Amino acid sequence: MIIELPSTKATLHLGEQLGKLLPVRTVLLLKGNLGAGKTTLVQGIGKGLSITEPIVSPTFTLVNEYTQGRLRLYHLDLYRLKPQEVEKLYPELYWEYQEVAPGITAIEWAQRLPYQPSDYLEIQLVNLPKLGRQAILKEVGSLSLKASFWESLR
Ligand SMILES: Nc1ncnc2c1ncn2[C@@H]1O[C@H](COP(=O)(O)OP(=O)(O)O)[C@@H](O)[C@H]1O
Ligand SMILES: [Mg+2]
Repeated sequence: MIIELPSTKATLHLGEQLGKLLPVRTVLLLKGNLGAGKTTLVQGIGKGLSITEPIVSPTFTLVNEYTQGRLRLYHLDLYRLKPQEVEKLYPELYWEYQEVAPGITAIEWAQRLPYQPSDYLEIQLVNLPKLGRQAILKEVGSLSLKASFWESLR
């Protein structure tokens, strides 16, 4: 599905819808260049989950965990990390939910993952010369979101 994002507000709104609708254990891989709107989207997700704490990019802490909302939110940003460093972070802990409590995991710069979860929602944020900014959402693996989820995003 392609969603047009003409403004920051539109990106926040999409995130908010995701925060309200996504089921527990969903992993979101966020792809897109610097400034594409990945963190903005996660801020919207936080709002949709009813997290009132400000969501800031986990640039130095690597993983931010928010426990306050409808579901837990784990926010990872791999921007500054080398593949070896990403491995040391054990990112799979945040999608297998064995050692961490179940929630929703959102990973910025997911293209830097040395290995990927088997099932996830990919959200690519692009800025095309004539079409402008868009989010491209794709289910990967056996992730299968309800038809009502997709309808709510329209
Ligand atoms: N759809 C949009 N249209 C215009 N500006 C946007 C949009 N989405 C986000 N922005 C702006 O782009 C800037 C960078 O966004 P950010 O979410 O930090 O990007 P990233 O995390 O991908 O580097 C912010 O100032 C944000 O307000
Ligand atoms: Mg960011």
